[in-house]
Amino acid sequence: MSLTSAAERRAHTVTLDAVRRTFPTPSGTRTVLHAVDLELRAGEIVALVGPSGCGKSTLLRQVSGLDTPDSGRILLDGTPLAGVDRRTAVAFQEPRLLPWRTLTGNVALGLPRGTDTQTGRARVAELLRLVGLEESAGLRPRQVSGGMAQRASLARALARNPGVLLLDEPFGALDALTRLRMQDLLLDVHAAEPTTVLLVTHDVEEALYLADRVLLLRNLARCPEGTPTVARVIDVPGARPRDRADHQLAELRAELLEGLGVATHHPAPLDPDLHHSI
Ligand SMILES: Nc1ncnc2c1ncn2[C@@H]1O[C@H](COP(=O)(O)OP(=O)(O)O)[C@@H](O)[C@H]1O
Ligand SMILES: [Mg+2]
Repeated sequence: MSLTSAAERRAHTVTLDAVRRTFPTPSGTRTVLHAVDLELRAGEIVALVGPSGCGKSTLLRQVSGLDTPDSGRILLDGTPLAGVDRRTAVAFQEPRLLPWRTLTGNVALGLPRGTDTQTGRARVAELLRLVGLEESAGLRPRQVSGGMAQRASLARALARNPGVLLLDEPFGALDALTRLRMQDLLLDVHAAEPTTVLLVTHDVEEALYLADRVLLLRNLARCPEGTPTVARVIDVPGARPRDRADHQLAELRAELLEGLGVATHHPAPLDPDLHHSI
């Protein structure tokens, strides 16, 4: 079997159709995902935000095939998903690299089975270049920074030629400046490699900077039975790369934070009678 050629690589559509996932707990069944209907267009970037424990990772795991819904369906390009699929790849908050392998060796782990040595070597070099690690290819994970390790983890995921990239808080453990750089790197990667991206993040600004759409999830533990998990879907305006200081994004940020139950700053009213509308 040969490596998928560049021309064959393409982004896939992902459809979630009435997805429901519950977990047993000592005090009864807990519904985490309910009535999740979603269509990710090929090449789209969709961000999931929501309070801790609301089900973001659970939703991502349904698409990865690592977990399966109680009911409902997940489709990839219109065909039902059956377990882990070679068209999807996942990267997590921790890079999960093998310490005894070099960055090259770690990225190579992502290559599809049966890739011939020469093609594989060229593809790994190409991906290391894409994530800016060509100079560090021979280093081991403990010899590199957290940001570099995370870039290697991203390159390993891309080595699968996934078409659907699932990212669970991929930059959550990085310092603020590195995180901003990684966001731009992800946009470069997305422009260079055809992928649909589902990104879990707790960072509302990151979601608005990167995504075409942002889904706000709610924690069903505090909701009446039958409440859908997705509370809101926000279309983010503006072509990428976006201006982080854009006022429209600032308004959406305030809206999302409010949806998350975080108080945002409102300017003091000029007229005290206006107080009630604040
Ligand atoms: N395998 C599991 N067994 C039992 N409960 C689980 C399992 N996976 C997730 N949960 C529960 O589902 C809820 C959502 O978890 P998760 O998707 O990890 O949230 P998030 O990623 O939004 O923080 C949590 O209450 C968690 O304890
Ligand atoms: Mg999570």
